[in-house]
This record gives sequence, structure tokens and C-alpha cells, in this order.
Amino acid sequence: DKIEAFRKTLLAWYDQEGRALPWRVDHDPYHVMVSEIMLQQTQVETVKPYYARFLKQFPTAAALADAPEALVLKAWEGLGYYSRARNLQRAAQQITQEHGGVWPQTADELVKLAGIGPYTAGAIASIAFNQPEPAIDGNAFRVFARLFCIEDDITLPKTRRVFDTLIRQLIDPDRPGDFNQAIMDLGSTYMRAKDPDAAHSPVAAFDASLAANRVLDFPVKTKK
Ligand code: ADE
Repeated sequence: DKIEAFRKTLLAWYDQEGRALPWRVDHDPYHVMVSEIMLQQTQVETVKPYYARFLKQFPTAAALADAPEALVLKAWEGLGYYSRARNLQRAAQQITQEHGGVWPQTADELVKLAGIGPYTAGAIASIAFNQPEPAIDGNAFRVFARLFCIEDDITLPKTRRVFDTLIRQLIDPDRPGDFNQAIMDLGSTYMRAKDPDAAHSPVAAFDASLAANRVLDFPVKTKK
């Protein structure tokens, strides 16, 4: 059916053209968490060297949990938003202390960790633990709003549910982490915010906004 065709097309493109990024080399939950927290407010190219240095200095959640906070903040210098670093260490301490070093595998449990919101919980659950959980960041809002001409205002809290419900139906149950990361890659290439190239996107045939010649009308944001 159409959903199956969408998954197949998207993942075949991701396998061929998806970005080779340092945090895609393995699916270790600690690696996924560190990368996703860094990527929240920082560009991919900036994150790369910080990610490598951070893991060299704090190779495991246990190592991060036990490190002096000053060292963690020092390693974060230049990335900004230092509460991310403090929360990351706190989350590592929760894993070691409250979970005995055994990672919770569901988004519902992961969201209880310090600094982990619905997006990051979905990213870790899908990428590290193969759970069919959406990871809805700005990219995902934009990509799905365009693919389905979703008119709901993404600045309204209630709109999240609309996207969550839709993505749960679409996500590939066998490769949820790759599905979510393929959406991120679409959102940074053919379906970027500015100057997109929807006509050449691998999922152009599934793009309702392209068919309607309304690509730039989505996502709908009234505020801002
Ligand atoms: N932005 C946030 N998470 C990402 C990921 N896993 N890959 C690429 N860009 C991202």
C-alpha cells in the first residue's frame, strides 16, 4: 500500500544518500543521548568535534556520572546552553543510580530523565532501542506538514498530537530509528525551510504540498 511504499522509498534513499555522521556509527544509548542533546540547539558541523572529544573524555554514562561538574562544563565550552550539560550529567547519574546502569528502553521512561523531552526520548527509544516512537523536532514538523498539507498551527501545543498520531501510523516498525533520521535528512536537504527542492526529493511523489504548489505554505506558524 501507500504507507509501505513511502517507507520503502524513504529508507532506500536513506541507505544510499543519508548522511554518514559520527553518531550513526553505532546505536549505543549513551552515544545517542549525548549527540541528540548537543544537536538540540547546535548545528551538525559544530557538534562533530565536540561529540568526539566529549566521548573520549567521558566514554560511558558511568564515567560522566562520576566526573566533576566543572570538567563537564569545560568540555561543553563553546556549545552554549550549559543547562544541557548539567542535565546530561544528571541523566547519566539517574541511569547509574536509579536504574542500576540498565537503560530504560521506552519513551515514557526516558522522558523522566533530566533534560530529556518528548523529542529526545523518541530519538533515543527509536535509534537505540528500535521502538516505533516519533522524534518530532522542527524538521519533522516541517517535513510532515508539507507531505500532508497539515494546516494546524505548529506553535500551538495541541498540534503536537496531530503529528504524533500521523507519524505513529507512518513510522517503519522494523527500522524506526532510521525512519526518524531519514526524516531529519530530508528536512536538511530537499525539504529544508529555506530554498527547498521538493521536486527532486526522493518522496516527491508523496508530497501533497508539492502537488498543490504550496511547499512554502507549510508548516503553518501564526505566532513569531
Ligand atoms: N539533528 C538532531 N538529531 C539528529 C540526528 N540524529 N542526525 C542528524 N541531525 C540531527
